[in-house]
Amino acid sequence: MIGGEILIWLHLFAMAAYVGAQFAVIYMLIPAAETAPDEASRRKSLIAGFKFYNPFTIAVLGIIVITGAMRLTDLKASMKFDYFERIGAPLELKLGLAFLLIFIQTYITFGLAFRIGRQEEVAAHGDGDPFTVEQVDSMLRRIRAMAWFTIVLAAAVIWVSLTMVSRAVNNRSTASLISARIAAGAHRASICLDPTTISTAREVIV
Ligand code: HEM
Repeated sequence: MIGGEILIWLHLFAMAAYVGAQFAVIYMLIPAAETAPDEASRRKSLIAGFKFYNPFTIAVLGIIVITGAMRLTDLKASMKFDYFERIGAPLELKLGLAFLLIFIQTYITFGLAFRIGRQEEVAAHGDGDPFTVEQVDSMLRRIRAMAWFTIVLAAAVIWVSLTMVSRAVNNRSTASLISARIAAGAHRASICLDPTTISTAREVIV
């Protein structure tokens, strides 16, 4: 079904964009800001980078959740009573890990990254002091650590997702294109490596 495939591709593109944004913060934004000549320019570049990162990560997570939920509705409809028995356990684990990922991202975005820019605005309006250098450094350390945590969580979610999809793949009508191809490739490889198949092939050749 074309609609189903578009949903899966959107799900995967959003996932790749999300993981890419985490690596960009760790290896591009924070190290680039460290090379700034003074503290004011360091904050300026951090704030400019987070202005993109904050809405972007929340938006792609939103796309992942919406496309995943829509796909889940299709799977549920096509599997009927088999649904819980076939994919119930990996799905539970996946949703638990996925929502933990969303909580952590919310903490990075609203609890840390957004506050750096917000506090500068508050200070500029004379309503309070800006963060000290130590405070900004400590927030950046937490952002980096939490970003690594989300990368590990995303890897776990991907692994559980592939397990879930391989359980659904037995039924061709519910199988995603990618998983079906992976399953077909693995099946072909196992046939090629099967010693009985190899000896039968030798006999045929001889
Ligand atoms: C509430 C959140 C989510 C829901 C409801 C959800 C739902 C789903 C569903 C139903 C599928 C099966 C699609 C199919 O093959 O037909 C799927 C596949 C997948 N999901 Fe999610 N997902 C969510 C979050 C995530 C997250 C956070 C990630 C990774 C960071 C992720 C990565 C994947 C991957 C890699 C696949 C395998 C695609 C394939 O082989 O076809 N999902 N998801």
